[in-house]
Amino acid sequence: MNKDFFAHKASHYERNQRRVTNVDNIAQTIIDHIPLTQTMHLMDFGAGTGLLLERIAPHAGKITAIDVSTSMTAALQNKQDKLACALEIRNINLEREDIAEQFDGIVSSMTLHHIKDVAALLQKLRQLVKTGGFVALADLDQEDGSFHTEDTGVHHFGFERKAIADMATAAGFKDVAVVDASVIKKPQGMFSVFLLVGQC
Ligand SMILES: C[S@@+](CC[C@H](N)C(=O)[O-])C[C@H]1O[C@@H](n2cnc3c(N)ncnc32)[C@H](O)[C@@H]1O
Repeated sequence: MNKDFFAHKASHYERNQRRVTNVDNIAQTIIDHIPLTQTMHLMDFGAGTGLLLERIAPHAGKITAIDVSTSMTAALQNKQDKLACALEIRNINLEREDIAEQFDGIVSSMTLHHIKDVAALLQKLRQLVKTGGFVALADLDQEDGSFHTEDTGVHHFGFERKAIADMATAAGFKDVAVVDASVIKKPQGMFSVFLLVGQC
């Protein structure tokens, strides 16, 4: 049984302007670093309500949204007709379930810290990307645990950049780079966000 940690947040998730601005910054960093084309079939891992994928959509042919939370993807479903590319939504827990297809690239925003075994997940993502494809994964830099003020299934207080880059290289990604993507200003402090880029 997969717990939906976002059931109580989904209906108002996008009303948080800090959250929207953060994903704006992440999407722009992806667009700046990855030569996206409208023939690409991408995966958005932990797509949620689709904040990231709707910004990437004009640069892709199709995006498959993977998310365990049916409440978050219900909000995404409502956007389907307005998206600039084709969309497929799959409600699966990628830590536990497998996908039989491969993608030209995988994007992700603010999901890795919800994953218990990130090394294993990166190995799975590597298998899901075609040769010549990429991953572009954004998440929090290491923080003191004050970023989250409620339990949404958090397993990591962000990541140390070298450690996650080494994990990505060990998983089989090449030319791994970690760049600045965003800074989230909260009442309790400033939280920086990185984008990890790797090639296959
Ligand atoms: C913080 S939200 C980020 C949503 C969106 N990417 C954004 O930036 O607005 C994390 C999302 O990852 C999803 N998620 C967490 N663990 C997952 C897993 N193992 N498999 C699939 N989705 C997962 C959650 O349900 C949630 O929608």
